[in-house]
Amino acid sequence: MLDQLAFKPHLLDWFEKEQRQMPWRETKNPYYIWISEVMLQQTQVDTVRDYYHRFVEAFPTIEDLANAHEDDVLKLWEGLGYYSRARNFHTAAKEVVALHDGIVPQQPDTFLKLKGVGPYTQAAVMSIAFDLPLATVDGNVFRVWSRLNDDDRDTALQSTRKAYESELAPYVAHQSGDFNQAMMELGALVCTPKAPLCLFCPVQTHCEAYGRGTVLERPVKTKKLKKKTLNFDVYVVQNQSGDYLIEQRTASLLKGMWQFPMVEHGANQNEDVFDIEQLMIQRKNVVKVKHQFTHLTWHLNVHTATVDEAAAPIIAKGRQWMAPSEKDDYSFPVPMTKIFNAVHEAE
Ligand code: ADE
Repeated sequence: MLDQLAFKPHLLDWFEKEQRQMPWRETKNPYYIWISEVMLQQTQVDTVRDYYHRFVEAFPTIEDLANAHEDDVLKLWEGLGYYSRARNFHTAAKEVVALHDGIVPQQPDTFLKLKGVGPYTQAAVMSIAFDLPLATVDGNVFRVWSRLNDDDRDTALQSTRKAYESELAPYVAHQSGDFNQAMMELGALVCTPKAPLCLFCPVQTHCEAYGRGTVLERPVKTKKLKKKTLNFDVYVVQNQSGDYLIEQRTASLLKGMWQFPMVEHGANQNEDVFDIEQLMIQRKNVVKVKHQFTHLTWHLNVHTATVDEAAAPIIAKGRQWMAPSEKDDYSFPVPMTKIFNAVHEAE
């Protein structure tokens, strides 16, 4: 492990001279720092500046944000993406007002309980606003720290993140806000992923990966498997009493759970589905539903229709009718519930 005394002052000297001016670096207001940290997740500094200014102007205090309409919050977020960040932050602001008199908690554990606050946001806000000793571990820090230590542990693993947090703990015992920001700034400006500027690096002499020529091999991160995508037609068929046609899954994924009859695109159009198509009277719009499993995405084209009593042959194929009120008696996987809700909303 690195020698703290030797490495940290060089990093902090460099940060003092070279850091980019950022509006949230000119305040100690924890609410403003929190806004910036939420926006900076998944988004570049240069993009965030304008959004930050507009947000602070529209909601200068956390009470203003808590009292805002969600539509107005989302509007100010438009173009930043990952809108759940905005929704969660809005909810967290309401929680701060309702539970903490509108004061951002200075207790890390209390702060972590707020909606949308994970270990990164917790460490960033607590260290930058209050100088509390928590280490931020984001993509930049993974890169910088793994190179400094020529560390080949897989940074995709939760256990590696935990290990980094505790290895960095001694470095954030003092000046934690500056140290954390300096690590992230070094990762953004010098210790970049593909073409790091090692010759200009303030801590090059401490960098074990530089010494061994392994800089571009760090950090080690196992790739996520590319998700497979499957497309299905799903038939939400009701009889004239309003009951739904359902069947039990036989495929190994979700086997035994119930579903609306569905058929994969490109699969042999089997007779059953052809029957349904024939029997449909009053066919309605197609609704599209997407569902992500861990290694698989389903795109579901949902057809809704009503059939008359001539539907008996459908039932003969191992299917049955279910009254809407019976839905909770059957185990439906999440995508089927999504369909059920989407169809009801569309009505
Ligand atoms: N990335 C996210 N937050 C940051 C900060 N405060 N300084 C530099 N880079 C960051």
